[in-house]
Amino acid sequence: MKRILNEMKLRLNATSSNEAVARACISAFVAELDPTVEELCDIRCAVSEAVTNSIVHAYRDRDARTPCYIYISARLYDNREVTVEVADTGCGIEDVARARTPSFTTGEPSERCGMGFLVMENFTDSMSVKSRPGKGTTVLLRKYLKP
Ligand SMILES: Nc1ncnc2c1ncn2[C@@H]1O[C@H](COP(=O)(O)OP(=O)(O)OP(=O)(O)O)[C@@H](O)[C@H]1O
Ligand SMILES: [Mg+2]
Repeated sequence: MKRILNEMKLRLNATSSNEAVARACISAFVAELDPTVEELCDIRCAVSEAVTNSIVHAYRDRDARTPCYIYISARLYDNREVTVEVADTGCGIEDVARARTPSFTTGEPSERCGMGFLVMENFTDSMSVKSRPGKGTTVLLRKYLKP
């Protein structure tokens, strides 16, 4: 049975300045397991894509006065497993399978290339997406660090 070594919960405003905050926090948190530079970069990159999605897509129809949040929960386990959940309470995704298709984007074609989910998948050991239209989206990232 794996044991939890450490847990973190973070609520951030869904603003682009918080992409860097999320990356910094997750790096500091994972450092306890002494990851390789490559492992750390992978985790930072995957988390960054998930957080950016919540910032860019989840709250696209909200007015500027309504506070919008991103919820990050991370765990370290004694089998060197790292899990990071990135959740929002935004618009949700109608068709998750379609959204995960490489090059699919509902964003500005000049700014987005529809590669975020592919990056999250490639830089982790598993990635799952749960979403309910009108309720929000949760992305669960899992990575096993080398012994
Ligand atoms: N948290 C979310 N809330 C609502 N829709 C989302 C969310 N995350 C992803 N999506 C939808 O899934 C699509 C694909 O996401 P993905 O990250 O793969 O590409 P992208 O964000 O459009 O472009 P890129 O990440 O390459 O800049 C998005 O265009 C958007 O329609
Ligand atoms: Mg994206």
